[in-house]
Amino acid sequence: MVLLLVLYHSQEYGNTEAMAKAVAEGAKNAGAKVTLINTDTKRVDIDQFRQFDAVVFGSPDYWGYIAGGLKIFVDDFYIARKVNRQGLENKPYGLFYSHGGGGNVREPFEKLFRMMKLGSKIGKTVESYGNPNSEILEECRELGQQLVENLKS
Ligand SMILES: Cc1cc2nc3c(=O)[nH]c(=O)nc-3n(C[C@H](O)[C@H](O)[C@H](O)COP(=O)(O)O)c2cc1C
Repeated sequence: MVLLLVLYHSQEYGNTEAMAKAVAEGAKNAGAKVTLINTDTKRVDIDQFRQFDAVVFGSPDYWGYIAGGLKIFVDDFYIARKVNRQGLENKPYGLFYSHGGGGNVREPFEKLFRMMKLGSKIGKTVESYGNPNSEILEECRELGQQLVENLKS
């Protein structure tokens, strides 16, 4: 069974969390076992992270960048990978974000996760202005499904 992590930060309104739950729903419907972690409430254990087959990252736009909680994970990842690369590469990933009208996070978000060289990026980055509507939630479900189907093929 595909093990998928949906790792996101959501703190202000729950907008990013609503997207994360939709990604998880799509992945579960495609047969994956899904774990959701909100970096606002928990720091990720990198050794736990190594065990997942794929991961979808979500962030709100904070000052035109990703949220600090998710950035802590990215920094932990860099340090951990220097010691042991196992489970920290060849992992397909997807991205989604929410914003409050600026949305300038897209470019740095995509660039940062490219720099991590975690694996292939699957699907397009899903974006929501504020509370995600039904169309965006459907895009999130499709992203979750795509990640799982990519691993099965
Ligand atoms: C500290 C902080 C900084 C923010 N900076 C931006 C910004 O630069 N551009 C933007 O479009 N929205 C900005 N926002 C709005 C959030 O990105 C937006 O409300 C988002 O949907 C919140 O997601 P959440 O409800 O999952 O926490 C900011 C919000 C906070 C709390």
